[in-house]
Amino acid sequence: MPETANEKKKVIFSAIQPSGTITLGNYLGALQNWVKLQDDYNCIYAVADLHTITVRQDPKAFRQNILDAYALFIACGIDPEKSPFFIQSHVHTHAELAWILNCYTQFGELSRMTQFKDKSQKHADNINAGLFTYPSLMAADILLYQTDLVPIGIDQKQHLELTRNVAERFNSIYGSTFKIPEAYIGQTGAKVMSLQDPTKKMSKSDENVNAWVAILDKPDVIMKKFKRAVTDSDAKVCVGEGKDGINNLIGIMSAVTGKTADEITLEFEGRGYGDFKTAVGEAVIEKVRPIQERFGQLIKNKDYLTEQYRKSAEFALKISQRTLDKVMKKIGYVAK
Ligand code: TYM
Repeated sequence: MPETANEKKKVIFSAIQPSGTITLGNYLGALQNWVKLQDDYNCIYAVADLHTITVRQDPKAFRQNILDAYALFIACGIDPEKSPFFIQSHVHTHAELAWILNCYTQFGELSRMTQFKDKSQKHADNINAGLFTYPSLMAADILLYQTDLVPIGIDQKQHLELTRNVAERFNSIYGSTFKIPEAYIGQTGAKVMSLQDPTKKMSKSDENVNAWVAILDKPDVIMKKFKRAVTDSDAKVCVGEGKDGINNLIGIMSAVTGKTADEITLEFEGRGYGDFKTAVGEAVIEKVRPIQERFGQLIKNKDYLTEQYRKSAEFALKISQRTLDKVMKKIGYVAK
């Protein structure tokens, strides 16, 4: 685990919610980058299960979703021996710092968060305080590890900005306490759009199951969803204005294969959208096939998963406690 030998490497922290379905958007926007960054940075990753109860969860399904997400991220290539990878609720410093940061975050700032506005519209019967203060918990996650870079998709950028503002505010009151983190947004896959309404981001909470692809969807389901993807009447496979559906499919193809948009356009010159959609479906299926196989093995190996999340939580607690102690001392709390 990276502590002394790699001390000079920059610190990366990121997390994903275990909300049942891990989508292609999560994979291309975040996870794929988490995996790539492991060798060059001190990476710390988490399953953000404290965040998830801002929306009501069924206990049995929730427990399974947390374990599934943990196994799935390892199957995607996260190596907990290299990059401590823990379950957020196992490390109590997160909830503690979140409370403190709540007291340094303004009502107005939180009211401007687009995710809060979207989610409170979607869950109008449960606009709880946690949903509102959720960005303070995310800020705590990040700031506890003196993080330099946070790999995220574009939709989380506003939360990262808020994290920076809160950290700067705290530092200006008490002197340098938190590292000011920066977003790490990949060149491809940073905003994967819905396959049914490509003006909206691909989201697991979309009621139309054809709008998103899950990493664990079966190959025939993936293919069906791509074949049904909404396009336009232009019939040319190229990036262009008013071609949101095709732009999105080209973006997905590029993020999955590493080819540029120009290379893809050249490859599909003179060929119809039908061919292209099938090719994108095939490329995605090939990408997720080995992940699905590894997931199938890992999820059966409970002992391995338990050992990894316990070891990682111990490491995370040690590092994060240092920051929390520093924060509490600066505020004026009496030492234990
Ligand atoms: P979450 O769980 O909604 O999404 C996890 C990651 O996936 C990215 N993502 C996407 N990227 C591209 N296209 C999409 N359609 C798409 N949908 C999701 C998100 O940007 C994110 O990077 N609050 C966070 C989880 C979190 C976190 C943190 C992240 C909690 N604490 C600390 C970073 C640092 C969330 O709900 O992401």
